[in-house]
Amino acid sequence: MRFYAEEPVPDEALETLLRAATLAPSAHNAQPWRVVVLQNVDVRRQLTEAMATRWEQDMRRSAIGERVIKAELEFSLRRFTSAPVLLLVCLTMEEMDRYPDPGRRRAEQTMGIQSVAAAIQNLLLAAEALGIGACWCCAPLFCQGLVRRILGLPRSWEPQALITLGFPRHHPPRPPRKSMEDVVRVL
Ligand SMILES: Cc1cc2nc3c(=O)[nH]c(=O)nc-3n(C[C@H](O)[C@H](O)[C@H](O)COP(=O)(O)O)c2cc1C
Repeated sequence: MRFYAEEPVPDEALETLLRAATLAPSAHNAQPWRVVVLQNVDVRRQLTEAMATRWEQDMRRSAIGERVIKAELEFSLRRFTSAPVLLLVCLTMEEMDRYPDPGRRRAEQTMGIQSVAAAIQNLLLAAEALGIGACWCCAPLFCQGLVRRILGLPRSWEPQALITLGFPRHHPPRPPRKSMEDVVRVL
């Protein structure tokens, strides 16, 4: 869902969604998710503009055309400043296991990311159940340090996703899915 009605999301509904996120399974039950509810309009704008500037630089490096850059940036600014609710979901590895070798460190990091993704999916399912639309956006992954700096977050919080939420302004068609044969292998 990428366009929302102006109607605010009630606080109780938001609390239900956040609670649902925290009921997700997690590796070692470390619950490595951290969520920032971005309510302050000025902070939101500052964050959105800084991310857009970084993204613009990235797109220019990838030789993307001016028209596409302009359209992408406009949409990005609009979606993150106008969504009724904007959440930043982070990963912290603080309570995950520590290993001396890169192979196990990578596996542990993946478990942390998988746990945070499970929490986000719980939140999205709870939103759907309440008739609230949502979109999972990967933007902060590409500028984690910048996001952390602007929001004054602890060094250990690794920004993973921005989630926009609100009551639907439209009902987009369901994106296609691959066939079961393409994604399931029975051995
Ligand atoms: C890890 C992840 C990152 C995503 N990042 C974005 C994003 O940056 N912008 C966006 O509009 N949608 C993003 N999405 C949403 C996907 O585009 C969407 O889930 C997919 O197209 C399938 O649509 P559906 O969820 O409505 O079935 C992301 C989803 C996931 C799981």
